[in-house]
Amino acid sequence: MKTISVQLDSHRYGIDIGEGLLSGVGAACKAAALAGRAAVVSNPTVAPLYADLVTGSLQDAGFSPVMIEIPDGEEFKTSTTLNSIYDRLIEAGLDRRSFIVALGGGVVGDLAGFAAATFLRGIPFVQLPTTLLAQVDSSVGGKTGIDHPLGKNLIGAFYQPHLVLSDVSTLNTLSERHYLAGLAEVIKYGAVLDADLFALLETEVDGLLRRDPVLLGQVVARCCEIKAWVVEQDEREAGLRAVLNYGHTLGHAFEALSGYRDLVHGEAVAIGMVQAALLSRLEGYCSSDDVERIVSLIQRLGLPVTAPEVAQDDLVSALSRDKKNRSGTLQYICNRGIGSHAMHQFTPAQLAEACCKGR
Ligand SMILES: NC(=O)c1ccc[n+]([C@@H]2O[C@H](COP(=O)([O-])OP(=O)(O)OC[C@H]3O[C@@H](n4cnc5c(N)ncnc54)[C@H](O)[C@@H]3O)[C@@H](O)[C@H]2O)c1
Ligand SMILES: [Zn+2]
Repeated sequence: MKTISVQLDSHRYGIDIGEGLLSGVGAACKAAALAGRAAVVSNPTVAPLYADLVTGSLQDAGFSPVMIEIPDGEEFKTSTTLNSIYDRLIEAGLDRRSFIVALGGGVVGDLAGFAAATFLRGIPFVQLPTTLLAQVDSSVGGKTGIDHPLGKNLIGAFYQPHLVLSDVSTLNTLSERHYLAGLAEVIKYGAVLDADLFALLETEVDGLLRRDPVLLGQVVARCCEIKAWVVEQDEREAGLRAVLNYGHTLGHAFEALSGYRDLVHGEAVAIGMVQAALLSRLEGYCSSDDVERIVSLIQRLGLPVTAPEVAQDDLVSALSRDKKNRSGTLQYICNRGIGSHAMHQFTPAQLAEACCKGR
């Protein structure tokens, strides 16, 4: 097991990463000085696989956990589901000394985290991320929240967990599509923040596709270290944290234009990273060799590289709706070679044109 320590102004906590950690969650909660009632939030896909292990471990450590099941899917990351969590927390008699345990992917983590941030003005919470995306991205950094009918992730709070246990064994049951989508975020860290990680991914494609647990432990730990470092510099996303949007500006636009159906998030990010690499070369931040390495790694890891057929005007509109759009320009993250980054300003029209011309 490896522990990454996250040190923020307000709070310090650890992320434990390794195989078979779920069976030790009760002891870990005790060691983190948690007490009182525990509410385990999960969904009908993940709960049958891991909830017994988690509640059993909590019971063994002297907690009396209550299970809260929410429906599976991004379409349920809503105020209605959030309210149903509050209902159950109140019915089960949770008080300020209680805590919430999020068992699942990013949807469960974001929802349960926001419930913890707001219930009784904040009770502690523990993240047990079970998707690769949640282990390398959403469980680190303290963003919690829900979607609004008018847009994704519009309601939320920064709220740090007390403890994160990333059990890489849980990735064995993850669907191929969601596993590969998580790898897109892993590639992102390598491409703009860590050349050594990128080179490791290039040499370990087979192990990654086989989900080798030792390799995954190493890769998840490195990604958490990187994200924790970024978040420590910039907890509230005033500057450096924007680097994590690499591949996401166009990625979000493609995702929205696909109606959040044809492409899952990581696939859209993979395509966005290819476009980002091409634009980076165009602006002189990297070489054709660098572009080739990025495209080839994405492809070898089974992710898409070709932008979907979308009308240029639709792309401009989608980019103009980007939350990070400030008075008509987008802070666009380019890769500076491999493992480093540069910020470049583009208008939505410039980005859409470059993207559609390159097709
Ligand atoms: N808070 C943040 O900083 C942050 C960062 C990135 C993404 N997110 C959010 O994360 C969400 C996406 O997360 P995700 O990709 O984990 O999706 P998800 O939570 O929907 O999980 C994907 C699917 O895999 C299932 N699943 C989860 N773990 C499993 C396992 N071990 N075995 C079998 N099936 C399993 C889930 O039930 C779901 O059907 C989005 O809502 C996004 O906005 C948040
Ligand atoms: Zn992402």
